[in-house]
Amino acid sequence: MRTYNLAVIHGDGIGPEVNHQALKALDAASERFGFRLESTEYPLGAQNYLDTGKLIEVGTLERIRRHDAILFGAMGDPRVAPGILERGLILRIRREFRQQVNLRPVRLYPGVPTPIKDLSPDRCDFVVVRENTEGLYVSEGSTVHGGTKNAVALQESVNTARAIADVVDYSFRLAQKRRKKLTLCHKKNVLVHAGELWQTVVDEHSPQYPDVEVDYVHVDAMCQHMPMTPERFDVIVTDNLFGDIISDLGATIQGGLGVAASANLNLDGQAPSMFEPVHGSAPDIAGRGWANPAAAVLSAALCLAALGEGEAALSLERAAASVLAGLPALAGPGMCAHTDELGDLIAQRITQGADADGCSL
Ligand code: NAD
Ligand code: IPM
Ligand code: MN
Repeated sequence: MRTYNLAVIHGDGIGPEVNHQALKALDAASERFGFRLESTEYPLGAQNYLDTGKLIEVGTLERIRRHDAILFGAMGDPRVAPGILERGLILRIRREFRQQVNLRPVRLYPGVPTPIKDLSPDRCDFVVVRENTEGLYVSEGSTVHGGTKNAVALQESVNTARAIADVVDYSFRLAQKRRKKLTLCHKKNVLVHAGELWQTVVDEHSPQYPDVEVDYVHVDAMCQHMPMTPERFDVIVTDNLFGDIISDLGATIQGGLGVAASANLNLDGQAPSMFEPVHGSAPDIAGRGWANPAAAVLSAALCLAALGEGEAALSLERAAASVLAGLPALAGPGMCAHTDELGDLIAQRITQGADADGCSL
């Protein structure tokens, strides 16, 4: 029987709450589609850090490396200074495992409430491809002191032609399989060095993909175009920070952070890819059962697709979309069901085979 070894990192806040629903969905799919999932939990995150003073041991990273994929919840805790868990765990894993592509689909599923007036699902189906290991995220930065009033904080952006080329090439190939349109998103009118390098790499790759139309949009203008005319976009390729920001905007358009999934893809086969919701640990709603598990389930669907279980992936996507269609998109006091109940409903629909429009994994 086909067997996959998953590393499971629940993390903090709502991370464990939503990740458990993703695991239920995966279990239901494995039974229905005839494969086996073996999962190993790695208790990393705020509590482990507070208890041991350690983020992750090299040996643990090496054990995680041997898995077929990583299912990740979320990281971040008010008891720990900002950046420690985020940089020391999430960003460390993305970088150590060379997960160069961060794929973030923005799809409005039928029946899901969106704050964008008159937006219909047929107009909103694009993908943000975010460079995942460089840019401003690499720099530790430095503060030149001279008293607080005179302090200067430096934070450099690292952009290598090699990493950009890998991500751009991936994006062209993805566009070829989709609607054949690639948009570079940057800020080359101001960040001239990095912007020029990104544009040059795109221009150099373009002749190899003559069927793909290429476009450029500044990141500030992107924030207007994405909600107003999402149909303009198919694959958007962008750097690490811009990708982080516009993907939360994308999440809003598609119905909220509770709906937005992501895949951190290793392209060289030397380490596992990692699948996680776009959202964070949401300490404001943790422990209440308000978290929407759809983003985690849709991330698990991306995991199955990457493992080659296409039919099973589609069943997770359909089940999540069909449950979403009946719900307010973001959790909160008005939410009509507990996270666990929604997870049960999604798993049930995977077992039964739910129909939902607009799914295409
Ligand atoms: P967040 O994504 O955790 O939450 C933003 C808002 O969206 C909150 O109001 C939250 O309640 C809501 N929300 C998020 N996910 C939801 C869901 N599934 N269902 C319903 N509502 C949901 O962002 P934040 O508040 O800026 O960050 C909280 C912590 O998470 C910080 O420590 C941050 O660094 C971290 N973070 C981690 C990741 C990650 O693990 N990949 C991503 C983003 C933020
Ligand atoms: C995300 C998060 C992370 C990022 C943080 C928590 C390091 O915001 O996955 O979008 O900036 O990439
Ligand atoms: Mn983010």
